[in-house]
Amino acid sequence: MIEVPDRDIKILAIESSCDETAAAVVRNGREVLSNIIYSQIKFHEVYGGVVPEIASRKHIEKINPVIEAALKESGLQLADIDAVAVTYGPGLVGALLVGVSEAKALAYAAHKPLVPVHHIEGHISANYIENKDLEPPFLCMVVSGGHTHLVMVDDYGKYTILGRTHDDAAGEAFDKVARAIGLGYPGGPKIDKKAKEGDPDAIEFPRAHVKGAPLDFSFSGLKSAVLNYLNAKRMKNEAVNEADVAASFQKAVVSVIVDHTMEAAKTYHVKKVALAGGVASNSALRSAMEEACKRRGYSFYRPSPILCTDNAAMIGAAGYYDYLRGIRAGLDLNAVPNLKLGER
Ligand code: KG4
Ligand code: ZN
Repeated sequence: MIEVPDRDIKILAIESSCDETAAAVVRNGREVLSNIIYSQIKFHEVYGGVVPEIASRKHIEKINPVIEAALKESGLQLADIDAVAVTYGPGLVGALLVGVSEAKALAYAAHKPLVPVHHIEGHISANYIENKDLEPPFLCMVVSGGHTHLVMVDDYGKYTILGRTHDDAAGEAFDKVARAIGLGYPGGPKIDKKAKEGDPDAIEFPRAHVKGAPLDFSFSGLKSAVLNYLNAKRMKNEAVNEADVAASFQKAVVSVIVDHTMEAAKTYHVKKVALAGGVASNSALRSAMEEACKRRGYSFYRPSPILCTDNAAMIGAAGYYDYLRGIRAGLDLNAVPNLKLGER
């Protein structure tokens, strides 16, 4: 168990692992005093995906103004902050390094402790912000652009990965299928929107299961099935109903994610289920998971969409619990692009 101090702990959090430059001030892990997100999407969308070199350069340009804005909006000065928390992995190495270097400089200059935070731990901790009563243990389905992990949150900072993807991450599948349909980047929100006009039962796409690993995921077969369907249609010069493809693909992804999460909840006897990561803002996934939990009498938690996609408030939430657990980094902290959950 974590011992909670009887004074307020204010964390300045920094996130720069991919294409959002973000800073936030979070009090006691659950109260967001400011949450500034600078999205670089407009610079990347013409290339159909995130260009690492552009991401690093934009982070360098924006990191100082974003941090200043976060402090200003919180009404606090750097001197009032108890610790600086920063995402140090996983992510793009050049992008991560901008946040890590900035956090080290601030911690050194202001004589504050430096708390290294795992990006996925941040996504999971986004659930604490709007659910003040949520405490481990609970099950969390993490679905982002780079990760698909079914995680048992045993305690603050203690995780057991029950299921993972063998190939594409859920968000990656959304992005690739959106590109194939011609919806552009980033694909997740575009498929979500398009699917609302389509029939989710129009096309039967495969629900991939991994033999011998019932809680694992595989999305590459589904992605290929969508590509084959589109190619066959185009070869025959037949019109493609984009909304039906989007809705049917989305249904296939959502049903596998919900089924595996329910299976894990049953197997491990948990009655608290949470969603996290960019794909957790998908409207079909949110309602299907909510419905499945309701039917079984489970409590269901999910962050608001703005706290699902990359942001620094979630890093401040995770950073608070890491801070209380005494986790600190020195000025030799480095970015770790392939950092595993639960590793330091
Ligand atoms: O968590 P995130 O912001 O970044 C990573 O840590 O990867 O997730 C980004 C991913 C992208 O693949 C994006 O297409 C997907 O989340 N995404 C969505 C939606 N909004 C974002 N996928 C499905 N439906 C959405 N509404
Ligand atoms: Zn993320």
